[in-house]
Amino acid sequence: MTDYSIMTEQLKALAETDAYYVPLFSNAAAILWEALPDINWAGFYLVRGEQLVLGPFQGKVACVHIRRGAGVCGTAWERDEMQLVPDVHAFPGHIACDGASNSEIVVPIHRDGEVCGVLDIDSPSFGRFSEADREGLEEFVRTLERTVIFSEEAV
Ligand code: SME
Repeated sequence: MTDYSIMTEQLKALAETDAYYVPLFSNAAAILWEALPDINWAGFYLVRGEQLVLGPFQGKVACVHIRRGAGVCGTAWERDEMQLVPDVHAFPGHIACDGASNSEIVVPIHRDGEVCGVLDIDSPSFGRFSEADREGLEEFVRTLERTVIFSEEAV
């Protein structure tokens, strides 16, 4: 079973080195990529105006822009609600960046109470993500929200 507490501790240590969102989100994607078995994409989309724009990630080249309400990511943003999707082909409007993806989990990230981005993880297996993943990733994202700094003055 995935040890999310170790991953979250690693994230806190990295945030102490530099909490600027570019290195922190990049290393957060790398932590997830290394620690989670059976995934084919892990990374971030960030809110920019009325759409999400691709952020740091690990995996294949992905779509760059996602409209609010579109796909799993845009739905997580619009509803401000985690999306745990056991079969992406059954999700209306799912955006297939990597044809190998069969299940997906998307967690909204907040800044000053508003969604400022999402964490997105894809798997080639159906039903890959469990309640334990949901809880672990919630905690992981809450730690990101508490520590990340979006301005260049971050240390
Ligand atoms: N499948 C996502 C798009 C992003 S990729 O999975 C990296 C969606 O439907 O929003």
